[in-house]
Amino acid sequence: MEKIGVLVVSYGSREVAMVDALSRSPNYQVELYIADKQKNPFNVEKAVKHVVTPSLNIEGICRFAEANKDRLDFILVGSEKPIIEGIRDLIEKRTGLPVICPKQKYAIEESKVQQRLLFQEIAPEANPRFKIFNPQDYKGTSEVKKDVYRWLDELDNQAVVKPDKPAAGKGVGVWGDHFTTREELFEHFLSNFQHSSVIIEEKVDGEETSFMAFCDGKHFIALPGVRDYKRAFDDDKGPNTGGMGSYKDVGDALPFLTAAERERELALGKKIFEKWQAKINDDSALRGVPLYLAFMHTGDDIKVLENNSRPGDPEIINILPIIKDDFVDVCFRMIEGNLTSLELEKQATVLTYKVPPGYGGFAEVFPNQVDQSAVDTPVDLSKAYQLTQKYGDKIRVYPGSMEVRDGQSFALKSRAVGILGVGGSIEEARQISLEGARAISGGAMWNRTDVASKQHIAKSVSHMERLRRKA
Ligand code: GLY
Repeated sequence: MEKIGVLVVSYGSREVAMVDALSRSPNYQVELYIADKQKNPFNVEKAVKHVVTPSLNIEGICRFAEANKDRLDFILVGSEKPIIEGIRDLIEKRTGLPVICPKQKYAIEESKVQQRLLFQEIAPEANPRFKIFNPQDYKGTSEVKKDVYRWLDELDNQAVVKPDKPAAGKGVGVWGDHFTTREELFEHFLSNFQHSSVIIEEKVDGEETSFMAFCDGKHFIALPGVRDYKRAFDDDKGPNTGGMGSYKDVGDALPFLTAAERERELALGKKIFEKWQAKINDDSALRGVPLYLAFMHTGDDIKVLENNSRPGDPEIINILPIIKDDFVDVCFRMIEGNLTSLELEKQATVLTYKVPPGYGGFAEVFPNQVDQSAVDTPVDLSKAYQLTQKYGDKIRVYPGSMEVRDGQSFALKSRAVGILGVGGSIEEARQISLEGARAISGGAMWNRTDVASKQHIAKSVSHMERLRRKA
């Protein structure tokens, strides 16, 4: 068997799923070099060399790559921060090693304004109505307030406020969720406008899908649609999170879409890629997952809510374990520019994230449901891993925001462990995922219980039916 070396830049469960996919390669013996946010229990076991770089600082990761250059064949990056900061440009320049992610200039996740302007040029139909407010265009608050209110008249107040650079102020704010009056909206707007341009766009009603594609720079391989669960609590209550779980159906389309709607999202994704690629004089710039589009299906068309320049977490975990091809070969084909096909098993997958009590505001909203004696205690994953005796490869347990300390594993602050169920139906996959979540003890952790439930899917189905009737 050919021996190869791969450096994975790891943030959480998404990259652990990549590490798992690489280490299951049937054709290669993969030596894993892992630059990790912390001592992730899964990665520590799998790596021949493991380094902790808490802020995923690209200079530190590049030095790790340089030190192991002779043993590495490529570098795989999953999370947004190093991609946006230009990890690919830096490592490729300093080592000549290929890095799988987009080049910095095309990591458009960094700027919501850049995304809207790009789509306006190459696929204007994908944009909701929007207006960009630039601080340099206004002399004072009252001037911009007048313009904002005029725009709100046009949108009938149904607006979403999006700062260009998300970290600068209060982040994305939605009419009806974050504010119910214009004054509140404007206060939210100003907190961001002090730092950067702000977009105010039409709030679009619909059902959301996560649309991702593997790209080698020239070819675009659309992945099956995945549904993400952003809200913290069951019934889509509570604040937005990084994603509490996700599902995909047996085939490519989600169960609330018609075949025609799936075709339409494929056509739109392909159009965006091809037009963007044609503008770029660089055949490898859009490598990795440069398009992870959050689509909103409105019943008569599709709008893009935003684009990310990397695989979704957890959405890519729904895909990686059911790729039939050797994932190492998929990576090599992305680098060589000949990724022209990808075979997947016809299986449904459901991912449930188990998270610590502080995540998503759970401990504040449901204090009586937190077992105080278990807070910050070690997390025992062994019973979940033992479920492979019952389910084989139909269960995957991927620790994310977890750390090994003195031989024991602890949950940190974010999404601690993703449990994937694989099945011949969504319900079968869901039951496996939930059984895995129940088998994990310690750390007073909790999870959503309705990811991919029949009731939740039925709600999406009837919502789409209503929207189609209105369209
Ligand atoms: N699931 C949301 C994200 O990856 O951004």
